[in-house]
Amino acid sequence: MKKLIVANWKCNPTSQKEAKKLLASFRNRLKKAKNVEVVICPPFVYLPDFQPPIPNFKLGSQDCFWREKGAFTGEISPKMLKDLGCRYVIVGHSERRKIFGETDEMIGEKVREVLKEKLLPIFCLGETKQERREGRTFKVLERQFRQGLKKAPKKEIEKIVFAYEPVWAIGTGNSCSVEEASKAILFLRKIISRAFNKKAGKEVKILYGGSVDSQNAPGYLGEPWINGLLVGGASLEIKEFAKIIKSVNIRDYDRLSKT
Ligand code: PGA
Repeated sequence: MKKLIVANWKCNPTSQKEAKKLLASFRNRLKKAKNVEVVICPPFVYLPDFQPPIPNFKLGSQDCFWREKGAFTGEISPKMLKDLGCRYVIVGHSERRKIFGETDEMIGEKVREVLKEKLLPIFCLGETKQERREGRTFKVLERQFRQGLKKAPKKEIEKIVFAYEPVWAIGTGNSCSVEEASKAILFLRKIISRAFNKKAGKEVKILYGGSVDSQNAPGYLGEPWINGLLVGGASLEIKEFAKIIKSVNIRDYDRLSKT
């Protein structure tokens, strides 16, 4: 299975001119990327700049609303995103949960609407530092998982990409060890198997995200149960991001010496 690397540009860069420059560097540096599916999630306003599509690349959005249209000032629907060429939609990112008060229920609505539009949700889950300290990591993951999927049709489980993003690791330079990330991801696989079926538990894509860089990327990518990465800060530096993409092709013995 091809690894999936998602670039989350968050609220960057600050002008369309800079966004176009960054996009051009992505086009040039990454056109020969092999054995990998790359998804770029820029701010909404830059989505039209991604036409024509970059070969090998998919377009994603960082968020969406959960209704198709209507009196919802400021909101953007999955249908509109699809029309702009998006294939993926990030849902439930911890920054949205924390800063904008998104609840598990709202996230569940978003997952449902994204699937209804035949787009692929990248559903983020993860515990805070305090929840980890209190030994509640698995409980929190299970709650987020159950609430987030409450309204998703059972047969659609294989379309959902999960992203384990421990909140304390995001944007801090303090990444989660491969061992700890693996424990959480294997736990998610267990609850997916239980809630859906064994095949889904094995085959559903689960990414790791949180302070990923070119140094730590090979370690995560070396684990067969980690299907890729959700990259924030490092996706804004093309050289660093290109190295992360390249590490998908590192052979195992190389990988071992690097981690
Ligand atoms: P980071 O962000 O790589 O800057 O930690 C990851 C994310 O928020 O998805």
